[in-house]
Amino acid sequence: MIKVKVNAVTVDDIDEIYHIEEIIHPNHHWSKNSFYNELNNKLAKYFCIKNEENKILSFIGIWQIFEEAHITTLGVHPDFRRLQLAQILLIRSIEECYKNMIKYITLEVRESNIEAINLYEKFLFDTIGTRKNYYQDNGENALIMFTQNIWYDTFKNNFIKLKEGIKKVEVSYDE
Ligand SMILES: CC(C)(COP(=O)(O)OP(=O)(O)OC[C@H]1O[C@@H](n2cnc3c(N)ncnc32)[C@H](O)[C@@H]1OP(=O)(O)O)[C@@H](O)C(=O)NCCC(=O)NCCS
Repeated sequence: MIKVKVNAVTVDDIDEIYHIEEIIHPNHHWSKNSFYNELNNKLAKYFCIKNEENKILSFIGIWQIFEEAHITTLGVHPDFRRLQLAQILLIRSIEECYKNMIKYITLEVRESNIEAINLYEKFLFDTIGTRKNYYQDNGENALIMFTQNIWYDTFKNNFIKLKEGIKKVEVSYDE
């Protein structure tokens, strides 16, 4: 079983994260500058997962605005999918939301992105609407997904169950 650790992203991680971003989204990815700018955004938090050789396998970003958090990006290197890495990053981000008294978490996702939609539904995100022609590269619609209040028992109990279900990798958390 591989061992991984979850860290806050630093400037030194951006080259590697950008490399993964280019692999995942060859035609419509964030610029390297966007990632650098995000590290200076006081509302933003970025986390990544590294293996024992300090290679970055995945990353996530969230903005926290008053009582709401917005997932801005999430990517897992194609060679390391289905290892619960996306779940681990969501768990770390939700922990951060609890620390900061966030109540709701939202995101936009391409309506064709079944993998991601399944992932978010597992965490009890519901689709509450659509943004028509949201994505500039192909005019695809975005689904707007929202959690219920994350302090409600249904969300919390599901969250605890998912946390206990991380078994495919051995994970440690920084901080
Ligand atoms: C979506 C993505 C982040 C999932 O990462 P991952 O680490 O492989 O996902 P996990 O192993 O944590 O899987 C969690 C859940 O996601 C869903 N899922 C993940 N991959 C899936 C697939 N290929 N088919 C169907 N469901 C899938 C499942 O519900 C899965 O739970 P299960 O294994 O109990 O069935 C990854 O495929 C990715 O980086 N995709 C490209 C970028 C992207 O779409 N980002 C999200 C933008 S909103």
